[in-house]
Amino acid sequence: MQTAETVVENPLRAGMRLERTAEPCAVVIFGASGDLAKRKLIPALYRLVQERLLPAEFAIIGLGRTAMTDDEYRDRMKASVLEFSESKQVDEEVWQSFAQGMKFLPSNIENAECYQALAKMLEEVERERGTQGNRLFYLSVAPEFYAEAVRQLGAAGLTKSEKGWVRVIIEKPFGTDLESARQLNQGILQHLDEKQIYRIDHYLGKETVQNLLVFRFANGIFEPMWNRQYIDYVQITNAETVGVEGRGGYYEKSGVVRDMIQNHVFQVLSLVAMEPPAALNAEDVRDEKIKAMHAARAFTPERVRTECVRGQYGAGAIGGKPVPGYREETGVAPDSATETYALVTMWFDNWRWSGVPFYIRSGKRLSKRVTEIAIQFKQAPHQLFGTAMEHVTPNQLIIRVQPDEGITMRVAAKVPGQVTRIRDVNMDFRYGASFGVQLAEAYERLILDCILGDSTLYARKDMTERGWELVMPILEEWGASKAEADFPNYEAGSWGPEASFRLLEAQGRKWRRP
Ligand code: BG6
Repeated sequence: MQTAETVVENPLRAGMRLERTAEPCAVVIFGASGDLAKRKLIPALYRLVQERLLPAEFAIIGLGRTAMTDDEYRDRMKASVLEFSESKQVDEEVWQSFAQGMKFLPSNIENAECYQALAKMLEEVERERGTQGNRLFYLSVAPEFYAEAVRQLGAAGLTKSEKGWVRVIIEKPFGTDLESARQLNQGILQHLDEKQIYRIDHYLGKETVQNLLVFRFANGIFEPMWNRQYIDYVQITNAETVGVEGRGGYYEKSGVVRDMIQNHVFQVLSLVAMEPPAALNAEDVRDEKIKAMHAARAFTPERVRTECVRGQYGAGAIGGKPVPGYREETGVAPDSATETYALVTMWFDNWRWSGVPFYIRSGKRLSKRVTEIAIQFKQAPHQLFGTAMEHVTPNQLIIRVQPDEGITMRVAAKVPGQVTRIRDVNMDFRYGASFGVQLAEAYERLILDCILGDSTLYARKDMTERGWELVMPILEEWGASKAEADFPNYEAGSWGPEASFRLLEAQGRKWRRP
């Protein structure tokens, strides 16, 4: 597949966003010297300034426990941009204008006085930088502080601005189960309007995930086939080669269902399964996504036993290098029953998808880092070519979310020669080759969307709760049968537990090898 030069850079954006320019604003980062701020937030904001997507009337206030001066904070952040930005470079001129608007406020998130100091600093910044009362609070702190920070902001009168807008970005994890997610929503909604809340899911900022909407709804040829009549099954693979990366303590209480499936994977899944939205605005798109998720069949203990598989990696090798098993990682119990791999089979009980299974797998320390959606079409209704078709698989459409972003269509083609032999060939579209541009970091796009007041790519309240509602029976069943887990049951560097292959084989299907 070749892309024509006339294609607009990103139709989704062109229609929704680029017509609007970002208004002046102050971004307040809670947890300003934390890992996320250093690795993602500051480099993303710097890039936005570099690309001139933010106005000159822009400021950053970093909040953190460690006391430091504005200059010390600026120096640290410069080092972070150098280390973590894609280009590993800093343009001095851009940096100077970026850093000028950067301040640091030593603070304790639970201390009301700090919010008074913040209010004062915001007024100062508004005078000095002309940010016009528009305020974006980014909560990049431990999840137990989300509700407290919002409460304190409310008490200090900071959730409203007389002059401009106030928005709050809340990081993941959004709750640890259905109950805590509900409580968190309730807590923050006491001080904020749903329209002010931006629950971030960085998977929605990935270019290819957004392209799913364009691919499905800007083309006339796919949508008519996007249903039970033509599609046999759908596979979503989210494979990582990394392990728990020093986050053993967090991961022990989480596992892959909490860490990846109920949020990131379900977001992607809902974009695959949803109906066309009436319009490309935040409410219409999110209405369709939640409608699809409402049609997702609930898990019962029986379904968990027969249609889901859990796994945990043992020692193995990644890229030829030996790596320890999960139970040997720091912060992990030697008899841990936390799953690092899960396969869950989803069904959507609606007209479009009735009878079409969606197989989802996500895991750490798998053979390859890849996230993809594979749509497996049904076989041609009549086998005209008899045995020549023996080695041919039914058509597949593969949407590669990462890495090597693109779309591949597998079709049957005749092998040149006098004899009719048929083989699978790929029709390929690659972002790199077709557009020749570096794809923007997810955080860049999402932060800019928030500044623009566009929450299409953020999780709405109902979606966060529905995600948890769906996975709770899986967590409960696995929690209750820890002893039967049979862990570790896959080798690091493999494609996961044997049982995940058997599950599909028993249904006459098989996992794609990405
Ligand atoms: C995070 C999870 O949300 O997503 C991590 O907490 C995971 O465990 C990461 O590694 C994966 O993100 P990406 O963008 O690298 O696929």
